[in-house]
Amino acid sequence: MKAIAIKAYGGPEGLAVVELPTPAPAAGQVLIATEAIGVGGVDTVIRSGALGGLGFTEGHVIGSEVAGTVTAVGDGVDTAWIGRRVWGSTGRGGGYVEHAVAAVESVAPLPAGLSAIDAVTLGGSGVVAHYALAHAHFAPGDAVLVRGAAGSIGVTTVQLAARRGAEAVAVTTSSAARGERLRLLGATHVLDRSGDGGDDAPAGYDVIIDVVAGPDLPAFFDRLRPNGRMVTVGVIGGWPPADFGAKVMGAFQKSLSFAAFSADSVAQADQSAVRDEQFAAASRGEIETVVHEVLPLDQAVLAHQKMAAGEVFGRIVLTP
Ligand SMILES: NC(=O)c1ccc[n+]([C@@H]2O[C@H](COP(=O)([O-])OP(=O)(O)OC[C@H]3O[C@@H](n4cnc5c(N)ncnc54)[C@H](OP(=O)(O)O)[C@@H]3O)[C@@H](O)[C@H]2O)c1
Repeated sequence: MKAIAIKAYGGPEGLAVVELPTPAPAAGQVLIATEAIGVGGVDTVIRSGALGGLGFTEGHVIGSEVAGTVTAVGDGVDTAWIGRRVWGSTGRGGGYVEHAVAAVESVAPLPAGLSAIDAVTLGGSGVVAHYALAHAHFAPGDAVLVRGAAGSIGVTTVQLAARRGAEAVAVTTSSAARGERLRLLGATHVLDRSGDGGDDAPAGYDVIIDVVAGPDLPAFFDRLRPNGRMVTVGVIGGWPPADFGAKVMGAFQKSLSFAAFSADSVAQADQSAVRDEQFAAASRGEIETVVHEVLPLDQAVLAHQKMAAGEVFGRIVLTP
């Protein structure tokens, strides 16, 4: 089968098309003939080599979420799965392929009306959006800021906060055009990347969901209202300054909270319950899946170049 592997860590050109044997599902796994493969921000981080210390080696096949049809199952898996259209998480790799294996606990049936492309756009990121808001104890009436809102996690976070009755949903983004697209998803105030603009934006926020981190994180922390909660779900802007902890303690009398959130800390069954709900909502048109572009699998280099150029709004999807 055709797969995309990392031949050399670094830029997108280090990705290459390779031929690999079609895998056989091990005990507890299903084999999925892929129809759609999500291109996640984390794929670009792994490709860059930044996570080499976590055991990734050259030759690693990247990609973590696919959708398609189950064609075989391993020992201990109900054969009724065969022939079903599903979304599946392949973990930390193994997704950019024509035939992927996934643990059956990490597989969700697709409702009628939800395409494979929509499923890989929402399946992983929607769960992060949901639990990030829960981790921040979001409640109706809260003023919310989503920093880095134009990515796959952000576009769903904006929709969920708006639908659940946020007082305001401010967003940061790099252009007015992207801001207009975010308004269509429920954003009420559009700020630039440094948090300026958005004339009548709230002076403070109860909840900040942050995909960026980096050197500006302390300045955004300052925007929390008393009892406010900031939750970081990504570090696409790099790590925060080393003295950020001192900043958090310095705001002691405002009772502010800072937390990181990773979906890895949520039980598979709980993730699945939320994903099933979101897939059903998307199939009814209640959650919009934001597909930037669909490209053939063998154009994975181009997909990663577009990610690097910062032009992606939502998610790029590959098709075998
Ligand atoms: N917590 C979890 O469980 C979990 C799960 C999966 C992935 N992740 C993490 O989430 C991140 C990817 O999320 P994603 O796919 O939604 O994001 P993304 O598409 O990589 O980026 C989101 C947006 O942030 C803005 N941005 C990019 N670089 C920036 C910078 N230096 N400063 C300010 N804004 C910047 C860009 O929009 P504008 O150009 O419009 O500003 C971009 O579209 C990765 O760090 C990944 O590891 C976390």
